[in-house]
Amino acid sequence: MSKKLYHGVAYYPELWNESVIAEDIRLMKQTGINVVRIGEFAWSKMEPVEGEFDLSFFVNIIEQLHENGIEIVMCTPTPTPPIWFSHGHPERMYVDRDGKVMGHGSRQHPCTNHPYFRERAALITENLAKAVGSLPGVIGWQLDNEFKCHVSECMCPTCKEQWHIWLKERYETIENLNEAWGADIWSEAYLSFEQVPQPGPAPFLHNSSLSTMYQLFSMEKIAEFADEQAEIIRKYSKSPITHNSTVFFDVDNERLFENLDFASFDTYAMIDNFQNYLMLHDLYRNFKKGTNHWVMETSPSYAASLASHATPHPNGYLKAEAVAAYALGAEAFCYWLWRQQRAGCEQPHGSVISAWGKPTVGYENVLEVEEMRKEIEEIIVSTEPSQAELAITYSDKGDVFMKTEPHRGLSYRALLGDFYKRVVNMGIHRDLLPEGASLDGYKLLFTPFLHHLSSEYIERAQKFVENGGIWIVGPLTGGRTENHTIHTDRALGQLEELTGVNVLYTYPMDGTGSIGRAFDVSAPLGLWSSVFESEDNTSIGTIEEGLSQGKSFITEHSLGAGKIVMLGSLPMEEAGDLLLQKLINHYSQEANVTIKSDVTEGTIVAPRQGDGFNVWFIINMDGNAGSVTIPESAVDLKTNSVVSPGKLELDPFEYKIIKIGE
Ligand code: GAL
Repeated sequence: MSKKLYHGVAYYPELWNESVIAEDIRLMKQTGINVVRIGEFAWSKMEPVEGEFDLSFFVNIIEQLHENGIEIVMCTPTPTPPIWFSHGHPERMYVDRDGKVMGHGSRQHPCTNHPYFRERAALITENLAKAVGSLPGVIGWQLDNEFKCHVSECMCPTCKEQWHIWLKERYETIENLNEAWGADIWSEAYLSFEQVPQPGPAPFLHNSSLSTMYQLFSMEKIAEFADEQAEIIRKYSKSPITHNSTVFFDVDNERLFENLDFASFDTYAMIDNFQNYLMLHDLYRNFKKGTNHWVMETSPSYAASLASHATPHPNGYLKAEAVAAYALGAEAFCYWLWRQQRAGCEQPHGSVISAWGKPTVGYENVLEVEEMRKEIEEIIVSTEPSQAELAITYSDKGDVFMKTEPHRGLSYRALLGDFYKRVVNMGIHRDLLPEGASLDGYKLLFTPFLHHLSSEYIERAQKFVENGGIWIVGPLTGGRTENHTIHTDRALGQLEELTGVNVLYTYPMDGTGSIGRAFDVSAPLGLWSSVFESEDNTSIGTIEEGLSQGKSFITEHSLGAGKIVMLGSLPMEEAGDLLLQKLINHYSQEANVTIKSDVTEGTIVAPRQGDGFNVWFIINMDGNAGSVTIPESAVDLKTNSVVSPGKLELDPFEYKIIKIGE
């Protein structure tokens, strides 16, 4: 549970002179900024010449901020190694898929697996942690900045060596690897691990196993770097450690946060994409259950660089975003950035204060956030997000499998995002649950769009079902092995065995004129689909038209006190959306999902629970006003007035805090 709510900024004092810094601190106080994140690109300020460390500038800044009542998140500066590291050393640099070697400049140019990079990163972090780790005011650490945001898998010779070591650990013998990957195909079979290539330039697609494993290897290595850095900091500081990630980068967030202390994300979603913004909260809240996550970066108005810009938020939206953040479990809401850059490649980016020291177009909105923060702080710190009953599994590994096998340009996040949006629009409180998370406390579980399901996951879900849960699996889920090959016992392997469903065949239904009917709705079917035999009474959805007429696309299987529902295909278009809504509704009712409301689209309810009471944060996100039915007599905590059961209206971007059951 949070003890306070943070309202913060990213700040680059190394770019400004003393008098600007003094003015910035004065303005920050005036604005209500209570936490500042510093240092993540300042390696050359901290170690201008190789081996010559000077942390006094940052010690001094931290002291100044602290004296002014502003707390600090200190960052390690590893995304931007100085020129002495890069110059004349192409072998230390990141190499992209086409074999292009990065030079000095921009950021994320080094190979983070290069031993010399690891050595220098360890040294700078150790020196930094020693210098500032126990200073009062340093309340947290951020490692690096957005791992893999501009780059993905590195193809350099160091990574090649590491790759071979990783493969040896995973497969032990080259025969095992050849067998697991089916490497006899196209004469790929290897005689030793050292011969296994990286998935670099090739005339056609690489073997699925090679491609998927290389991505998993890369994700594991970057998390290992994070682990290594965190260990160093912990020798000198008790403050919790995070990393500012998001779902768009080529990292396995679940693995990345495994050994860190709290989760954070950056987001620049615009208003028309507000569900994506909510999705990040519903996910990041669950990477480190029991701790509060942070919004480490968002723009006070618009993101931009030399080459692009977003549309500025309408007035009022920032406050809606911030109140949603706090209500959905965030402890901090921080901007990128405080003072507009005067140089570099992001001068045009939205900021709180301009490069010339004046409030920007977003400033009034920042003040509104601060006013709101003060208003809600007490109620937030005495409650926590209600335990959701509905969970949707999220997996960055799933994203990897889909990147290897996207069929017709499928995107895991886009598919999942659409599915999530539907649940939000239906007013159901939900969690996006990392693949490895415990299923305790949930009633209804969805596992869509995962080519591969691990045995461990299937067994955990099986227990969940045996204990009374309803598990809805698919579409597209379970057809690939952990090595990204096809099962040869049954179409869906272990999953099929568990459910007893009989998959006849799988094929892409898009464009085949397939129509499915379930819950009194007929809808076109799409996506790579599993067609189920409908000989017994397990079928809930029938294929009415198309190549598999008369067969089934949804089946139900009782197991213990619960059931498994197999969703073999994706109902498409408007009718498909309706069918899916009906399916979600049907099983929510059957599973007795109670935390839901009839909130209108564009408005959300974020439920929180306190000691013996529930609070609904109701927020209009889309600026079009909205309403919700209050189920029983309640109190409006902003006005301290009684709210009778019935329809409650909200103005554009308005938020209400309603204590239910008074
Ligand atoms: C983030 C990054 C920041 C800044 C920002 C601009 O991806 O962490 O350093 O570049 O984007 O939107």
